[in-house]
Amino acid sequence: MSNITPNNLDAFWMPFTANRQFKSNPRMLVSAKGMHYTNAEGGQVLDGTAGLWCCNAGHGQPRIVEAVTRQITELDYAPAFQMGHPKVFELAARISAMLPTGLDHVFFTNSGSESVDTALKIALAYHRARGDGARTRLIGRERGYHGVGFGGISVGGIVTNRKNFGTLLAGVDHMPHTHLPEKNAFSRGIPEYGAELADELERIVTLHDASTIAAVIVEPVAGSTGVIMPPKGYLERLRKICDTHGILLIFDEVITGFGRLGTAFATDYFGVKPDMITMAKGLTGGTIPMGGVAVSKEIYDTFMNGPENMIELFHGYTYSGHPVAAAAGLATLDCYKEDGLFERANDLAGYWEDAVHSLKGCPHVIDIRNLGLIGAIELESIPGKPTARAFEAFLKCYLQ
Ligand SMILES: Cc1ncc(COP(=O)(O)O)c(C=O)c1O
Repeated sequence: MSNITPNNLDAFWMPFTANRQFKSNPRMLVSAKGMHYTNAEGGQVLDGTAGLWCCNAGHGQPRIVEAVTRQITELDYAPAFQMGHPKVFELAARISAMLPTGLDHVFFTNSGSESVDTALKIALAYHRARGDGARTRLIGRERGYHGVGFGGISVGGIVTNRKNFGTLLAGVDHMPHTHLPEKNAFSRGIPEYGAELADELERIVTLHDASTIAAVIVEPVAGSTGVIMPPKGYLERLRKICDTHGILLIFDEVITGFGRLGTAFATDYFGVKPDMITMAKGLTGGTIPMGGVAVSKEIYDTFMNGPENMIELFHGYTYSGHPVAAAAGLATLDCYKEDGLFERANDLAGYWEDAVHSLKGCPHVIDIRNLGLIGAIELESIPGKPTARAFEAFLKCYLQ
């Protein structure tokens, strides 16, 4: 028998956390309401990041709580393979109605990471289904974050998330990132310089030949790497190059989806339509894990071929379209609509921009960037101690 006591913090291996540091000085959140957490000491903590960019409707929304409670009583689980339940179909239809015309079908997952791996697999299988199976290369971008599955870290570009995990997927290449502080520091909104970095995709196409490339995946606004906005005209150029060469364009909208920029998705904000959109987080307001991949009609229709009794895509998860998550998703979409939350995000964006940029000139602030309701304040590192200053700032905010 284990000699670990129930209240011991040792047993839980915390994700993306300095475990020993945390366990010697824990920060325990015990409840949440609106935009605040309450911690174990009874303090109020402003949730300035909406959880992990996921609680877009705020905490403790009664409509979501009620829908989840009702659903778990009525139908707690239903297999998604060869069977269905009504709410997941309704949710898919509601999401496609929010997306640009032509992005008409949604495949459900349980997280952003699974959504990314799903989208990459669909891209490969799509080209094969079209008889173009030599298109196996996937192109990501330096500093990209696409979750932690092997597909996601392969196309991702954050060295710490990649270096310990072997050779990763073969046949992946990366475009350069678009963070140009020497030209774009303290930009308000979309930065002016750097659209030409999209042309690096042309160089990669020339190197490998378009006939070997399946898809390009980017975050329209990169989040986890420290927030990088696309330079003016950059996404349009990527779209054009992909079109020229028959390459699928995937927008990873796991953080930009569901109102972060004051529009339903970043595709609306930028007016650039990808072939697939990955989503998660705000889909259920962070309440119940759920992700999804929206795909174009062209992609879906390509799979709907062959004998009708055959499974068209050998992919899916036990919890794909879980009834409780689907109920949470529907109630979350109701909150966004009924409370006009995307419009409110849009209305607040100017105020937010002025507020974050008012910190210019504060000690150690070397850049401030913003878009929609995203704001990043970059602090100069302490020499020889990467991340130490940011962690110090984080602790000060937590203890406020
Ligand atoms: C752009 C992007 N893609 C994928 C993910 C992974 O999502 P998850 O942690 O739900 O697997 C994240 C998470 O932050 C993300 O920001």
